[in-house]
Amino acid sequence: MVARPRIAVVGSANIDLTTFTDRFPKPGETIFGQRFDLGFGGKGANQAAAARLCGADVFMVARVGSDLFGPATIENFKKLGIDASHVKQVEGLSSGVAPIFVEPNGQNRILVVKGANDALKAADVDAAAETLKTAHCIVLQFEIPLETVYYTIAFARKQGIRCILNPAPGQPVDMGALTGLDYFVPNESEAETITGIAVRNVEDAKKCAEKLVAGGIRHVIITLGANGSLLAGGALSEHVPPFAVKSIDSTGAGDAFIGSFAVFLAEGVPEREAVRRANLYAALSTTGVGTQKSFYDRRRFDAEWAVRGRN
Ligand code: RIB
Repeated sequence: MVARPRIAVVGSANIDLTTFTDRFPKPGETIFGQRFDLGFGGKGANQAAAARLCGADVFMVARVGSDLFGPATIENFKKLGIDASHVKQVEGLSSGVAPIFVEPNGQNRILVVKGANDALKAADVDAAAETLKTAHCIVLQFEIPLETVYYTIAFARKQGIRCILNPAPGQPVDMGALTGLDYFVPNESEAETITGIAVRNVEDAKKCAEKLVAGGIRHVIITLGANGSLLAGGALSEHVPPFAVKSIDSTGAGDAFIGSFAVFLAEGVPEREAVRRANLYAALSTTGVGTQKSFYDRRRFDAEWAVRGRN
């Protein structure tokens, strides 16, 4: 049981340019969108923000561009209380950006231009090694070079540090490099890209997770959006049901899940219960616009959990 977990995120930081629209333009067509929102995002930064808001000490290893977004992103980490001493600007590269389109039902479509995120290398992980060694958990995603991700997994394994990988955006993976990984947390489309099994329902998710576990990953959690999540490990797999909310923007819900799950688990909450809590934390994040700014802090989350977590 750790009262104040230390969570390290080796990952991406983006600027999100979110447009709310009733429909998408056809080729050659110009239409009006309803609303625009500019915010701090990136799967790594979002997961760091969620972990911090849930009460952990968080440190980030990332690269930002030599544009006006770079210093603003570093400032945002500091404002959130995230240790950004291993977040550096890269000369001559743009920051990561993500044009995002959100439909009236809250469904999103995201395009990521990685920019400086692609400059985060194994040597940068080595440079942060002394800090990383103090973490209870290292969290990774796929918006930085995959070699850096594999290198960090091997580092975590060698140091005996719990490691959670969110393989987003979905890309073909060297499964051998993931052997021994503690938690692999894709959504439906990422799980399909990696295993070749289409995930349209809980049964598909079970098949998919079982294939990943058979490949050497200890625990797999497939996040299923409004259907909750599927937890698998060893010979068991279990559907963990969702919490109903009025969703207006689902962007960053997966990140909210992962950042909060890392904290709950490090606090010593049993695995299934940690998944349930993360389901609620993620669902609540969809009731607000944007990513980091829609995440609940621990006090608000605990108040919701006290009412809704009992059943
Ligand atoms: O998961 C949501 C995130 O994906 C956004 O913040 C965007 O930057 C992309 O990384």
